[in-house]
Amino acid sequence: MKNVKILWLIIILLLAFSGFLINKFVSGKVAPYEDGRTSVVLNKDERNLILAEMRAFLVSVQGVSQAISENNMDKVAELAFKAGMAAEEGTPGSLMQKIPLAMKKMGFGTREQFDGIAQTARTTKDATVAREQLDTLMLTCIACHATYRLPEPIE
Ligand code: HEC
Repeated sequence: MKNVKILWLIIILLLAFSGFLINKFVSGKVAPYEDGRTSVVLNKDERNLILAEMRAFLVSVQGVSQAISENNMDKVAELAFKAGMAAEEGTPGSLMQKIPLAMKKMGFGTREQFDGIAQTARTTKDATVAREQLDTLMLTCIACHATYRLPEPIE
């Protein structure tokens, strides 16, 4: 009987711990901010990594847009693919824990939309469709910026 009780105790502890982990994964490391956005609290290196990815995003958007205007669909495919899920490989797991689930969804959503543009550029090569996809993709940039910020760490 004693063993059964210990077993239950272990099960309850494990459930509580996994609940804690799931909760952390969903909510991330966040704090409210006075302008209505949510602060995502990262350390200096993590913040620098994300901001560098952001500047690369802007470069990608400009490059893809220009390539569409030039109707150079090979270049559209190349640039959009580079900004797609392929770019996500190097992101450390610890960083993923601190980013709220809704923000992760928008981040990956942006990557997937770049893949979608690359797909259009390789298959139908329809510049109008690619332009519309880029327009829609940029709504995700706007939505995420309206919701989250990355405060400078006090270190
Ligand atoms: C998943 C959320 C998210 C998405 C999607 C996103 N951003 Fe950002 N971006 C942020 C956050 C958060 C910041 C920091 C804003 C702050 O602290 O005020 C930021 C900052 C930036 C910066 C400033 C970088 C710096 O060095 O300060 C640029 C440029 C930028 N984003 C471009 C883009 C572009 C272009 C896209 C779309 C292709 C995009 N972002 C999509 C969340 C996102």
